[in-house]
Amino acid sequence: MTGEQAEARPGMSRRRMLGFSGASLLVGAAAGAGLDRVASADEDGAAGAAIAFRGAHQAGIATPVQDRLHFAAFDVTTDDRDRLVRMLKEWTDAAAAMTAGRPVGNGAAAGSPVAPPDDTGEAVGLPPSRLTLTIGFGPSLFEKDGEDRFGLRARRPAALVDLPHFPGDDLDPDRGGGDIAVQACADDPQVAVHAIRNLARIGFGVVAVRWSQLGFGKTSSTTPDAQTPRNLFGFKDGTDNLGESDKALLDEHVWAGKGDGWMAGGSYLVARRIRMHIETWDRTSLREQEDIFGRGKGEGAPVGREKERDKPVLARMKPDAHVRLAHPDSNHGARILRRGYSFTDGSDGLGRLEAGLFFIAFQSDPRKGFIPVQQSLATDALNEYIQHVGSGIYACPPGVREGGHWGDGLFA
Ligand code: HEM
Repeated sequence: MTGEQAEARPGMSRRRMLGFSGASLLVGAAAGAGLDRVASADEDGAAGAAIAFRGAHQAGIATPVQDRLHFAAFDVTTDDRDRLVRMLKEWTDAAAAMTAGRPVGNGAAAGSPVAPPDDTGEAVGLPPSRLTLTIGFGPSLFEKDGEDRFGLRARRPAALVDLPHFPGDDLDPDRGGGDIAVQACADDPQVAVHAIRNLARIGFGVVAVRWSQLGFGKTSSTTPDAQTPRNLFGFKDGTDNLGESDKALLDEHVWAGKGDGWMAGGSYLVARRIRMHIETWDRTSLREQEDIFGRGKGEGAPVGREKERDKPVLARMKPDAHVRLAHPDSNHGARILRRGYSFTDGSDGLGRLEAGLFFIAFQSDPRKGFIPVQQSLATDALNEYIQHVGSGIYACPPGVREGGHWGDGLFA
């Protein structure tokens, strides 16, 4: 935690200032241990607290999942490498401020009266809300239409592959790809939206939003002790997920290794916008719904077991049950950290909800994580009720160190 992050915001109460100082110590110690942990000493409680922006790993991956998402993918519109790096530095300063609950630059109502304010203002007075901002670089940043745009072609990590076509995909190119992605998660949607909006504003002339997605109701948890959230099909989602306490498993399955150059300590993000056919599902019997997942709808226990956390017996599930096909034992031990959100973007003009799961998975190598698991899901009984309509893959670098900035390893 930097001094700047511990700085009080205007209007902050003394009690809260003390809370933040205590939190700074907590975060500082945890960041030293490479844990990127949460500052929870704030008087607003966990939901209002600040999460350390700097550390060995980026926050927003293994840190506890917040309630809301604003995900945005940007196209780089300049061919000026230096200008792009300058913007990434400006983004880093803004991200450090916003995640600490401070406004960007001079704030919303200070500075020159004849220029637009540095901050757009809609988060003034709101707590940090556990905002995390996680950046990733898409394959097209390294090479687009055969062109080495920024001299980065040789820096493209081998694991940043173009995702193959999967059976059933109906991908909309306007809801996929992008040179740079930012995942903003917070407990208050206004805080997440404010963060993306201000990054887009700072990036004007350098980047343009290509596509974005709002999400609510986290569909996975990285804190196994917390109550497991439910997805829009009404099932507990995220029971068997990797969490912040699984340090050895995170090292093995989520963090890129030392051999991965500038990506060491980073992770690969796969995003899939998955439409869920809610109306068809709602006409499906309870038994069939439970057979499809291989878990009960109430307690969330695996078929033939009693409690949610009981070990699944895959052989007892139908051969095409989702959990059976996605389980590490069916995929040579492949594991991913799921961090998705539900979405409902109104209705589709045919009287159906335009709803689904914005699936996000982090892994140390998508060739050993998302890709084989998704291939195994080709025969998933769930496929009758869902369709993948958007897709992206991004290399998320390690955390920003003191004095460093987003992309410093890549552009070094
Ligand atoms: C709309 C689409 C999806 C829905 C509604 C859904 C729902 C669920 C539910 C309810 C569970 C059981 C509880 C749990 O352990 O979390 C589960 C487990 C799981 N899902 Fe999905 N899922 C979807 C898509 C996917 C995709 C695209 C993948 C990866 C390619 C995936 C990978 C997994 C994994 C790895 C597990 C844990 C299996 C285990 O170890 O027991 N899911 N999912």
